[in-house]
Amino acid sequence: MNDRKEEETMHAVDTRRRLLLKATGASVAGCCALQAGAAAADEAQGVMKGDLLVAAKGDAATPLKAEDIKAGAKPVLAWPYDLGQKAARSDSRLNKLLLIRMDPAEMSDEMKQRSAGGVLAYSSICTHQACDVTEYVAADKLLMCFCHFSKFNPGDGSVAKGPATKSLPFVPLTEKDGLLVVAGGFSNKPGV
Ligand code: FES
Repeated sequence: MNDRKEEETMHAVDTRRRLLLKATGASVAGCCALQAGAAAADEAQGVMKGDLLVAAKGDAATPLKAEDIKAGAKPVLAWPYDLGQKAARSDSRLNKLLLIRMDPAEMSDEMKQRSAGGVLAYSSICTHQACDVTEYVAADKLLMCFCHFSKFNPGDGSVAKGPATKSLPFVPLTEKDGLLVVAGGFSNKPGV
């Protein structure tokens, strides 16, 4: 009787374990499918290595050169430009970039590596509530969003002053034939 009871208990435990494993497996598969879908969506919309840049306002057909971004001037908002599709990647606001020129003497080695001719690129979407980050405050050497005055360090995109709490992503640039070219994706996910 005792043996039978023990056998029944073991069977129940085994059944429960198998059910648990099945449920966990299904959940992991669902999670991975979702992550893969999100990654694919990011890839479809994101900034891509090799993209050129075009102004978000005005002439959207002429690729930007490093010399178009002036020191001390208002930052330039730009879209990545898909050379294959011959179109700006403007279908998602999250792709919009902010371009500034900084004196290389004020840049770290890491910033110099990701800049092209002194030009640096960041997501223009504030990580607080998604307003456009439009300003570079030269006196503070900080990027600023006018909506609630969050400030970001151009060195690594970190928050210098809230209410934003998440770093502003940056995008590495390079130059080819005098044109600004995207050299890689966002340093972290753009947006809120
Ligand atoms: S949306 Fe930029 S500070 Fe609030």
